Amino acid sequence: MVSETNLSPEQHQKLSRIVYKESGIVLNENKYSLLVARLAKRMRIMKISSVSDYMDLISRDPDEFGEFIDATTTNHTYFFRENKHCEYMVKGLDKKKPLKIWSAASSSGEEAFSIAIQLLANSFTFNIFASDVSDSMLKLGQRAIYPNDRVKNVPVSLLHTYFQKGKNIWADHVKVKPVVRQLVTFSKFNLLSDKPVDTFDIIFCRNVMIYFDTQTRQKVVDRLCSALKPGGYLFVGLSESLNGLEHTLKTILPSGYQKK
Ligand SMILES: C[S@@+](CC[C@H](N)C(=O)[O-])C[C@H]1O[C@@H](n2cnc3c(N)ncnc32)[C@H](O)[C@@H]1O
Repeated sequence: MVSETNLSPEQHQKLSRIVYKESGIVLNENKYSLLVARLAKRMRIMKISSVSDYMDLISRDPDEFGEFIDATTTNHTYFFRENKHCEYMVKGLDKKKPLKIWSAASSSGEEAFSIAIQLLANSFTFNIFASDVSDSMLKLGQRAIYPNDRVKNVPVSLLHTYFQKGKNIWADHVKVKPVVRQLVTFSKFNLLSDKPVDTFDIIFCRNVMIYFDTQTRQKVVDRLCSALKPGGYLFVGLSESLNGLEHTLKTILPSGYQKK
């Protein structure tokens, strides 16, 4: 078990630097206990009791390195979170035009499936590219099974149409139906180091840049803007904005932007 006393300032600095370099997430002094708690969890799983042994492990084992980065990111999400952006699309966009959509920090897939369900229910033609830096979150998205509390904001009629109820040991879970799953493709993409190879009509990049510093946010926004088609939309989290960043997008609603 790791306690605050056996993670030295140097180790804290080194681990924070590793996380920043890999994912852009800033784990400064305020996030010290978060880093210690997440590190302790990985060390318990790997049955390692010394921080320096664990640091040695992540320097030579890419799988555990990935697990460590995963452990330090916040993956919290749920269906129909901050749904105003999606409602805007459904009401305002032309149903006849096929849409290419990117859920750019999709975590375990709830955002991408929420968008897919609403567009499907409103007869849009579309496909969604869902990406994240975390392998374990991508696997959960591909599995598409969720505890019932994640779908509590889904309107009942949509819940009945687009989810299967679990049985027996899965009684507290639902699974997204294939008709929705087939419209969402999951793939690994690091917003910091990977370059988009496609362009999109709509990009959702929500509740991730909040963990980045201004310099990283600017780099990510530049990349996202270059991946937007002219007239395309970028949505960030409702507690985020592009204030203080350079861009040429037009603000169309809170945390919602359009490329000219
Ligand atoms: C809080 S979740 C947001 C999920 C969803 N977009 C939402 O708003 O509910 C943040 C996600 O960002 C991912 N993430 C963190 N750093 C990233 C990076 N550099 N590239 C891609 N994804 C990253 C994390 O793995 C995590 O799944």
